[in-house]
Amino acid sequence: MGDIKVLISKETLEERIKEMSEQIEKDYEGKDIVLIGILKGSVMFMTELAKNIKNDIALDFMDVSSYEGTESTGRIKINKDIRDSIEGKDVIIVEDIVDTGRTLTYLKEYLKQKKAKSVKIATMLSKPSRRVVEIDADYLGFEIEDKFVVGYGLDYNEKYRNLPYIGYIE
Ligand code: IMP
Ligand code: MG
Repeated sequence: MGDIKVLISKETLEERIKEMSEQIEKDYEGKDIVLIGILKGSVMFMTELAKNIKNDIALDFMDVSSYEGTESTGRIKINKDIRDSIEGKDVIIVEDIVDTGRTLTYLKEYLKQKKAKSVKIATMLSKPSRRVVEIDADYLGFEIEDKFVVGYGLDYNEKYRNLPYIGYIE
């Protein structure tokens, strides 16, 4: 394992997350929001995002894993589901990074089936060049090139989640 190089500094990242919070606040004026964080990678992004939104917010979490396969849809396994009903609620899925797009495509449909009033996506990062399934985030922090990134929640074999910036492995 080589050195970690900084791709996005803490300051740049947190300034952008603040802008995302402001945008969400505008778009959801007068509405309550349910943020659903996808464990574990989204945790730091989610807390930063939530702290800067003044709406009434409920937090819930899901844990999912994807099976690598040849099917274009992929297969997603739910290890932990949301705790509370989202029927009639305005939901924002909070994700660390969109890679192939399989996880979010599945989750968006899954949460719609639970009769949410609306389901939007906020992701800290996106690697558009890796997309297998077409999915657009409603709120996107940064588009990055096809590098394996760590930090600010993102891991490599459970390591580096606590780095306060986004780095990549050389
Ligand atoms: P996908 O969009 O369904 O392919 O899945 C995205 C998930 O893969 C993310 O939630 C991450 O957990 C993981 N992932 C994708 N790219 C990276 C990366 O560069 N670093 C760390 N985790 C990644
Ligand atoms: Mg993830």
